[in-house]
Amino acid sequence: MNPTNARRPHWLLAIYPVLMLAIVAGMATAQDGGSDGGSEGVKSDSEGLALFFIGRRNSEMEPCGCVKNQLGGVQYEATLYSREPAESSIRVDAGNWSLYPPMPDVSMRARYVLKAMGGLLALDAVNVGEPDLANGLVFFDSLREAHPEAVRPLVSANVYLQADSGKRAFKAYHVVEKAQAGGESTSVAITGVASDSTFRTSPLVGAADYFKQDFLVKNPAIELELLVAEMKEKADLAVVLATGTWADAVGIAEAVPAIDVLVSTSQPNDRSKLSVEVGGVKIVSVHNAKGKELGKVRLAEADAGGWILASEPTWLPVSPKQLDAVPALVELIGEYKKNTEELEVEMPRGAERKFAGARYCASCHRPQYEDWITTRHADALQTLVDKGSQFDPACLKCHVVGFREANGFYNVRQGRSVANVQCESCHGAAYEHAQKQNLIRNNSVMRFDDDERDRFLAEAEALIPPSQVLEQTCVQCHQGDNDPNFDYEAKIHHVDHSAPADSVAGGR
Ligand code: HEC
Ligand code: HEC
Ligand code: HEC
Ligand code: HEC
Repeated sequence: MNPTNARRPHWLLAIYPVLMLAIVAGMATAQDGGSDGGSEGVKSDSEGLALFFIGRRNSEMEPCGCVKNQLGGVQYEATLYSREPAESSIRVDAGNWSLYPPMPDVSMRARYVLKAMGGLLALDAVNVGEPDLANGLVFFDSLREAHPEAVRPLVSANVYLQADSGKRAFKAYHVVEKAQAGGESTSVAITGVASDSTFRTSPLVGAADYFKQDFLVKNPAIELELLVAEMKEKADLAVVLATGTWADAVGIAEAVPAIDVLVSTSQPNDRSKLSVEVGGVKIVSVHNAKGKELGKVRLAEADAGGWILASEPTWLPVSPKQLDAVPALVELIGEYKKNTEELEVEMPRGAERKFAGARYCASCHRPQYEDWITTRHADALQTLVDKGSQFDPACLKCHVVGFREANGFYNVRQGRSVANVQCESCHGAAYEHAQKQNLIRNNSVMRFDDDERDRFLAEAEALIPPSQVLEQTCVQCHQGDNDPNFDYEAKIHHVDHSAPADSVAGGR
C-alpha cells in the first residue's frame, strides 16, 4: 500500500478541490522566482507570449518505472510550467489524452489526467480527440458533476451532441487574458477540433463505435471557418488545437487562413522541420506521446500586424532526473493508484484450471525452481506493491501469470500461487501437464487398463511443454516503453535453467 495514501485523512478528500486551488496559487508564487535555476530563464527569451503545448498523453500520468530514466510525469511537467510566469504563458493540450479502446482502467486514468490538466497544471485549453470521445458522454457528464475543474479547459469546435446535432458537446472556445512580456495585455482565443477521418483508418478504427451514439464529429475546416472569424473579433490571437494526421492539419490551415497558430498532434513527414507555415498559419506539432516532452514556442506580434513565432519550437524533456516533482500532483497520482482498487475483478467461479503455479512445478522440477526463485521475475508483483500499483491492470498484465485468464491472476488478495512472473509465463499454462505427470509419478496409471494407459501416456506426452522458450514469448513483456532495449541474446542466459551454473545469475 502506498504510504502517502494510508496517511491521508478522509476529510482531506472532501476539501480536495479547494486545497488544489490553494496549492496552485502557492506553486505559482513559490516557483515564479525561478529558484530551481533552470536553463529556461525568463530573461533570455523575453518577447511576447510563451505557448506551451503537449498532446497524445494516451492516458498516462507518469512513466511505469520499468526501466531507468524514463521521461514523463505530470508532477515534473508542472515544474516546467512554473518557470514561466502563468500570466504570460499559454498552456494547451492538443488532444488524445485518453487511449483507445476505453477499458475501465483507461477511462479511470483519463479522469485523473483531466483532473491534473484542469486542476494543478492549470491548462488554458484542452482539445477533445477521437479516443477521448470514445469514453462516451456518461464519462464527461459524471466528471462535470464530480470534478468541474477537470472539464473546465475542454474545448471543441466540431464535436456535437448526437441527440441534438445543432448543439456543441463542449465549449466552442475559451478566451484567456494574458500579458505579454512587455506588459501589454493580450486576449487569446483557443479552440480545438477532432479529426473526422482518423477513426475510419488505423489505429483508431472502431473508436467511433464507442462514441457515435453520443457524439457527432463534423468537418473540422467547415466548423472552424465561422468560428475562427468570431474568435478573432473577440481576441487578438486565435489558436487551434487539432488531432488527426499531418495532412488533416495542413488541410485545416489551407482552408482557414485566419488561424494564427495551429497545434497538431501529428508531425510533418519531414521531421527535421520544427514548424511549418501554410498560408500564414503557423503549425507546430507534438513530438512525443505520453507526456514525455513539453513543446514550447514564443509568439510575438509582428510590426506589420499578425503574429510570428519569435523562436523555433523546442521540446523540453519532462525529465524526473532533472526536475523537481510538485507534491500535490504526486498526491493526485497516489489517489489514482488507490482508486484502481475499485477496478479489482473477481475470478469467475468454477473457472477451468489452466495454471498450476510454480510451487506445483517445483515438486518435479526442483533445480529450475531453485534457479527461478533467485530471479527478478519471482518478485515482480512486490515491485508493483512497492509502487502502490498492485491494483493497476496496466501494470499487472506483465508482472503476474495469466492476468484475468481462467484461473490466472485476478487480484492481490487471491494468494500467491499465480503472482509474479512464473514458470508458466514462459512455458505456457501447464496445469494439465502437471496433473498428468503427477498421476504417472504416483503410479496411478497402473490402475488403468492397457488401452486407457496408452491413451493417457500419449496425452501426457503431448502435453509436455516445449523446452524451448522463444524470443516472442519474452517480448510480450520486454517491449516498448517497458523495455525499449531488450536484447534476447544477452538476456536469455539470465533465465535459461539449462545454462552452465556460473552464467545463471538470475539478473540480480
Ligand atoms: C508490457 C509489459 C509491462 C508492463 C505493462 C509493465 N511492466 Fe514493469 N517491467 C516490465 C519489464 C519487462 C521489466 C524489466 C525491465 C528490465 O529491467 O529490463 C519491468 C520492470 C519494472 C520495474 C523495475 C523493477 C526493478 O527491480 O528495477 C518497475 C518499478 C516496474 N516494472 C513497474 C511497473 C509499473 C508501475 C507498471 C504499470 C504502470 C508496469 N511496470 C507495467 C514489463 C512491464
Ligand atoms: C509430477 C511431476 C511434474 C510436475 C508437477 C510438472 N512437471 Fe514438467 N515435466 C515432468 C516430466 C516427467 C517431464 C518430461 C520428462 C523430462 O523431464 O524430460 C516434464 C517436462 C517439462 C518440460 C520440458 C522439459 C524438456 O526438457 O523437454 C517443461 C518446460 C516443463 N516440464 C515445465 C513444467 C512446468 C512449468 C510445470 C508447472 C506448471 C511442470 N512442468 C510441472 C514432470 C512434471
Ligand atoms: C509475463 C511477462 C514476462 C515475460 C514473458 C518475460 N519477462 Fe522478463 N521480466 C518481466 C518483468 C515484469 C521483469 C521485472 C521484474 C521486477 O523486477 O519486478 C522482468 C525482468 C527480467 C530480467 C531481469 C532484468 C534485466 O533486464 O536484467 C531478465 C534478465 C528477464 N526478465 C529476461 C527475460 C527473458 C529472457 C524472457 C523470455 C525467455 C522473459 N524475461 C520473459 C516480465 C516478463
Ligand atoms: C523467463 C522465462 C522462464 C521462466 C520464468 C522459467 N523458465 Fe524454464 N526455461 C526457460 C528457458 C529459456 C529454458 C531453456 C530452453 C532451451 O534450452 O532452449 C528453460 C528450460 C526449462 C526446462 C528444461 C530444462 C532443461 O534442462 O532443458 C524445464 C523443465 C523448465 N524450464 C521448467 C521451469 C520451471 C519449473 C519454472 C518455474 C519454477 C521455469 N522453468 C521458469 C525459461 C523460463
